[in-house]
Amino acid sequence: MINSASSLVGVRFIGSGSAVPDRVLTNHDLAQMVDTTDEWIASRTGIRERHIADGDADSVANLAAKAGQKAIAAAGLAPADIDLIILSTSTSDDLFGTAGRVQKILGAERAVAFDLVAACSGFVFGMVTASQYIRTGLYRNVLLIGADVLSRWVDWQDRRTCILFGDGAGALVLQADPAQDHLLGFEMRSDGKGNDLLNINYSGRSTFEPISMNGQEVYRFAVRRVPEVIEKSLNIANLTVSDVDWLILHQANQRIIDAVVNRFGIDPAKAVSNMGKYGNTSAASIPIALDEWVKAEKIAPNHIVAIAGFGAGLSWGSAVFRWG
Ligand code: UT7
Repeated sequence: MINSASSLVGVRFIGSGSAVPDRVLTNHDLAQMVDTTDEWIASRTGIRERHIADGDADSVANLAAKAGQKAIAAAGLAPADIDLIILSTSTSDDLFGTAGRVQKILGAERAVAFDLVAACSGFVFGMVTASQYIRTGLYRNVLLIGADVLSRWVDWQDRRTCILFGDGAGALVLQADPAQDHLLGFEMRSDGKGNDLLNINYSGRSTFEPISMNGQEVYRFAVRRVPEVIEKSLNIANLTVSDVDWLILHQANQRIIDAVVNRFGIDPAKAVSNMGKYGNTSAASIPIALDEWVKAEKIAPNHIVAIAGFGAGLSWGSAVFRWG
């Protein structure tokens, strides 16, 4: 397995972008819809509001393309420079895939484009997938997008799930570099035995059931497994937790972030959190947070960033990289 800085071609992380719908749904709005309170949601999850798609204008393709456009511009490239587009999403506009629509909107005519489905681990799995194409020398510029519109699949009467999710997209341009490899380590895992803990199942009627989730079990799984994969990717990178400048976990629950921070004894200020504004945006949550911290110039060139995603599958994974 090529999972070290010893490969022939290295990977650099050169531009980010993000996009969310304009429409905001607050906890107070939700309290008008289901039996819940701002206090319960904020204290149990850290979420205060989320952005919710408004029809086709905020389709997965449109949000993904907006985020992708910004990432390409931030990387100093043009759409025609992109060789590969990987769209990590579990809420495709089209069961045949949405990446082709994104390619069309972007005008990235040279790119090959495909979807990758790995729920809330989608961005980490996409980063590893993109890097393999770069490290083997096949592609030079890869646009990785995490985009989800889970609001389409939420049961808005189920207070256990409808308070959690938001919509959005985040993107990252990865580029081949023969001289340096900024992907320092990664680890991906799956456990199909937990598959029934979190699903959007086919209903048998040309559509899908709304999201169903065993929240407590998924919480326990996350708190147990996420530190393991972070440790594994740090080991591969020959780094320790103290080398990490920024820890970006999938933004599912502030209590999960706090538990991982405590487990590692890491400075809480290094643990990126923006779920208060966006909720859980699934595959988009890590790249939206990454983009926000890059734009705020908190994440700077050569900072060490550790990311970890976890969710349905069950799937989980982590990557450690040097920004820039
Ligand atoms: O993105 C994929 C990964 N997903 C996750 O990581 C989610 C992981 N799970 C979680 O974050 C948490 O389990 C939740 C936030 C989903 C739920 O928090 P919890 O502390 O595990 O709550 P709970 O399910 O144990 O529910 C506690 C109580 C229950 O009432 P009883 O049975 O104790 O009377 C629920 O009915 O809270 C009740 N409850 C609510 N009350 C007010 C559940 N949802 C709500 C609500 N408002 N929205």
